[in-house]
Amino acid sequence: MKAIVIRKHGGPDVLSYEQIQDPSPEKGHVLVRVNYCAVNHLDIWVRNGMPGKSVVFPHILGCDICGTILEEFGDFRKGDKVIVYPAVDTSIPRVSFGIIGGFGKYGGGYAEIVSVPKKNIIKKPGWLSDKEAAAINISYLTAWNMLERSRCEKGDTILIWGANSGVGSAAILLAKAKGLKIITITSDKNKTALAKKLGADFVIDRSIKDVTLEVLRLTNQVGVDAVIDHVGAKTWPISLEVLKVKGRMITCGTTTGGEAVVNIRSLYSKEAQIIGAYLGSKSQLVSLHKFMKLKKIRPVIDSVFDLKDVKDAHQKMEESNQFGKILLQVSS
Ligand SMILES: NC(=O)c1ccc[n+]([C@@H]2O[C@H](COP(=O)([O-])OP(=O)(O)OC[C@H]3O[C@@H](n4cnc5c(N)ncnc54)[C@H](OP(=O)(O)O)[C@@H]3O)[C@@H](O)[C@H]2O)c1
Repeated sequence: MKAIVIRKHGGPDVLSYEQIQDPSPEKGHVLVRVNYCAVNHLDIWVRNGMPGKSVVFPHILGCDICGTILEEFGDFRKGDKVIVYPAVDTSIPRVSFGIIGGFGKYGGGYAEIVSVPKKNIIKKPGWLSDKEAAAINISYLTAWNMLERSRCEKGDTILIWGANSGVGSAAILLAKAKGLKIITITSDKNKTALAKKLGADFVIDRSIKDVTLEVLRLTNQVGVDAVIDHVGAKTWPISLEVLKVKGRMITCGTTTGGEAVVNIRSLYSKEAQIIGAYLGSKSQLVSLHKFMKLKKIRPVIDSVFDLKDVKDAHQKMEESNQFGKILLQVSS
């Protein structure tokens, strides 16, 4: 099969398009022909490498898979279109689970065929196209989990960082459908226009405005009920500052770094909470499908690259030049 293989950590140049042997499934696993695989920021973390995290080389990235089942099992027939739920068991202490194509032993969806646990297979909802189905298993599921953990109710105000990101654009669509008032952050005119089109009530361009002052102005100095923060070190101090009394900051990512300096007094004096979110469960993914169908939500797709052009796809994400999900077409 054709696959993008990495044999060491590094920049986009370590992504190598190769002909390699098809995987053979272990017990309890099934082979899936990958139709589309979304690019996620996790792919860049794994490609670059992280202290204390390892993969087994040669490694195949890609955690967001829509494909076709290659053999019959249970209720599934050969040829069924499926989604692969990305979480797998891990032996790492104090970590809930591993991710297919992430750190650990599991090769992912940057390959024509992938071997995954049968228990991770979900039937692709018929109303989603293959592209759309590959776009939601990481960003949309995480945003859904974060919104659930925020305990926000209709009419509450939420701050969502990075309107153009996978997680941010997903959170805007889902929060809008839940009836929340949305303040989101962009960094240029084009992203601002697209964020408004997506349904954000207020958009703050951080390249020209002070985010803290603007959020407080927009909320009459009260602050927001919750913040969806996937950006990390650079945004945590602001996220905590703009929370209202008893507000909740939900965190899932560290794009700008994993060690933040925060105002602890501000946190406890308003009895605020910091809540972690890691992906979401398989049953949450099924509820998300139902919610998206009910509310007629289609994932925002920025672009589709051919598998062999993966370096361009990674470059686009690293330059934050996307609005929504970047996909790889793996098999036609
Ligand atoms: N815990 C989980 O289960 C989970 C799941 C999914 C993702 N994540 C993590 O969440 C993060 C986002 O993932 P993604 O795939 O959505 O990433 P992405 O599409 O690459 O988006 C990155 C975002 O970060 C924003 N950003 C970068 N620097 C910033 C700064 N200094 N201030 C404010 N915003 C800044 C960018 O906004 P601009 O374009 O305006 O700069 C962009 O919107 C990643 O760290 C990823 O690993 C975690």
